[in-house]
Amino acid sequence: MNKLIETILDHRSIRKFTDQKITEDQIKIIVQAAQQASTSSYVMAYSIIGVTNETIKEQLCEVSGQPYVKDNGHLFVFCADLNRIHRLASSEVKKLLEKSMETTEQFMVAIIDTALAAQNATLAAESMDLGVCYLGSLRNDIHRVNDLLKLPDFVIPLFGLAIGYPAEKPEKKPRLPIDVVYHENNYELQDVTESLKKFDEELKTYYQNRSHNQRSDTWTKQMMRKYSKVQRAEVSSFVKNKNFNKS
Ligand SMILES: Cc1cc2nc3c(=O)[nH]c(=O)nc-3n(C[C@H](O)[C@H](O)[C@H](O)COP(=O)(O)O)c2cc1C
Repeated sequence: MNKLIETILDHRSIRKFTDQKITEDQIKIIVQAAQQASTSSYVMAYSIIGVTNETIKEQLCEVSGQPYVKDNGHLFVFCADLNRIHRLASSEVKKLLEKSMETTEQFMVAIIDTALAAQNATLAAESMDLGVCYLGSLRNDIHRVNDLLKLPDFVIPLFGLAIGYPAEKPEKKPRLPIDVVYHENNYELQDVTESLKKFDEELKTYYQNRSHNQRSDTWTKQMMRKYSKVQRAEVSSFVKNKNFNKS
């Protein structure tokens, strides 16, 4: 197995970091790695905001309710961004561009580009023995994050990425069996009951035996709880008010 695959397969989220900040050089390498990800039609539809201001970090931490938003080696916020292209357009073509930028297709382009960049950043960080935690919890109050980071039209904060030197080494979290997620040639509605039952048992054992935050739970129960209530309903109107995903 090569070093990259080893790094990928050794991933686990880190939620406790030492006080050591990461260096400017490390920040630069991480951002360059993010930028080198493939990007739909060369659009590069994202902006990455490094948050160093303690007051802003404090408030983002309040939004998320998670201490590692504040206590980390560096905090990045990944934003889907079509604003820079919108700004480039002359006033005569702006309306034309807006018609295209407001479609679900261009919304998806921006989301995909941003996520790919973030995962490259993650791998770069992990290859330097840093730990990361994605922070979708910033969408707990997407309006407040938007205001704190002064995000204009056509820019939406998708998630944070806390990076730093790990102060913990949690057990690796199991993943779904390969036969459940991988199909050949078409989407087979195969019976995965047995596979999922085994996976639920595996995950139950993981939750019961891991070194922190032990609990009794299964993936099936977790997913039923998650999808039985609407989460962050205000994100839909926020996105549309930013002129994304309107048509
Ligand atoms: C887009 C995204 C958002 C996430 N948001 C959070 C978050 O707000 N807080 C958190 O502790 N973990 C968050 N995570 C981490 C997931 O909980 C974690 O990746 C998942 O449970 C699998 O665990 P592992 O990364 O340790 O393998 C997020 C992950 C992703 C990809």
